[in-house]
Amino acid sequence: MLTDDFFTIAKDNFLCNTSYPLDKYNWNEYKTTNNVDIFNNEHDFNFYIHIPFCEKLCTFCEYIKYPKNGIEKEKEYLRILKRDIYKFIEEHSPIQLYGFDIGGGTPTVLYDDIFSELMDFCKSIIDSISKVKDMEPSIEATFNTITEKKAKKIFKAGFRRISLGIQTRNSSFLKKSNRADLEDSSIIEKCKMLKDVGIEKINIDLMYGLEKQTYDDIKETLKLIEMINPEQVTLYEIRYNLLNKKIDINREYLYNQYLFFYDNLIKMGYYARLGQNTFSKNKQDFGLSSYLRYRMIDNVSYKGFGIAAQSKSKIGISYNVGKNRKKLDDCLNFNSFGEEDTYLLPKEELLAKYIAISMYYGMFKISVMQDILKADPLDVYGTEFEFLKNNKYIEMKGDNVFLTETGFKFYGAIGALFYSNKVKKWLLDKNNV
Ligand SMILES: C[S@@+](CC[C@H](N)C(=O)[O-])C[C@H]1O[C@@H](n2cnc3c(N)ncnc32)[C@H](O)[C@@H]1O
Ligand code: SF4
Repeated sequence: MLTDDFFTIAKDNFLCNTSYPLDKYNWNEYKTTNNVDIFNNEHDFNFYIHIPFCEKLCTFCEYIKYPKNGIEKEKEYLRILKRDIYKFIEEHSPIQLYGFDIGGGTPTVLYDDIFSELMDFCKSIIDSISKVKDMEPSIEATFNTITEKKAKKIFKAGFRRISLGIQTRNSSFLKKSNRADLEDSSIIEKCKMLKDVGIEKINIDLMYGLEKQTYDDIKETLKLIEMINPEQVTLYEIRYNLLNKKIDINREYLYNQYLFFYDNLIKMGYYARLGQNTFSKNKQDFGLSSYLRYRMIDNVSYKGFGIAAQSKSKIGISYNVGKNRKKLDDCLNFNSFGEEDTYLLPKEELLAKYIAISMYYGMFKISVMQDILKADPLDVYGTEFEFLKNNKYIEMKGDNVFLTETGFKFYGAIGALFYSNKVKKWLLDKNNV
């Protein structure tokens, strides 16, 4: 099929976004049943710790999480997590850390004693491993679970960046989605408390493309952002890939919502290239944690700890126990959140995964592609690059390939041009059904 024709199909397909592969069976033939360590001989890592508990489960959320369920379960979770992390460090030393993120779920939902133990543990890990100069640990939280006591623990453990979700100020959407809806004043107070405790960077997550989200809703949300004045804002386009929910996407509509956020955030003094989903008050700062930056743009390997966490190395990808939505108790019974599924991937799949995730930031690097392919990407993907350049969807500056403003409108389809032939065929077959 011609590149133009495939592009036309991909741009209207809701599956084409930052998620890859498109279906859990796409990689079946690469699945290994042997006990393979995908990180054999690797020493440069991003670490991610998944805390899969939340006070309430938001219906729009695509992450693996469980409702908070008693201190004993949390105690057991942390015990297994610590054991897994110590074991990994022992087996892969010497390690150089590029990023260290704790996410979820909601890490700050943990009972005080468990949270405190998690923070002490993180501090001991961060202090004992060698790090690149700009390694910046970061932790996710929600406004209804962050307390001064927890914030002090976070600071003491060495975290200076915290990321909290607001998503939208539309109360009826929040209610319908089973998400807590706090007063503006309470959110503002919590942010002030975090700054007083010493947290230097607050990031706020917002979402667009939500059901019935209007420009008035967005204006309300932005008003609150102006009052909080966080150092960073991350803008997520709603994805339904993992929720088995089919939607009709209207690219124009999503693009216009993004533009509305973009224009207003720029007016408020944030910096961002049009097309990236992170906004920062500091021009030198990329607006995201070092974990995400090194993972998305530089393709540094990442190791995920905890239920359902994903890991990626130079040769493959693995998903921990729980990825297939097992019950919490079943996962805890394993006594290790080791890999449930491991895939040894060919270069074209590793390349496709890198490009898909880089679309969050609206850019990718030729040198990273070269490193994955061990060949000149401009030769291997000559037709795709020619199409993108001719249509002015990308702009190449040295090693960097940036999506242009028009290109960003179709970022999912641009990523799809770099899918493997197998996944492209799967998408076309599905499209014809
Ligand atoms: C791992 S979640 C955890 C954040 C935290 N528990 C909270 O609710 O604020 C990180 C962010 O992912 C985004 N997110 C959640 N579900 C999403 C979906 N279906 N599509 C796109 N982004 C999503 C939200 O903006 C959320 O703040
Ligand atoms: S959005 Fe946050 S609080 Fe809501 S279910 Fe997802 S992880 Fe939990």
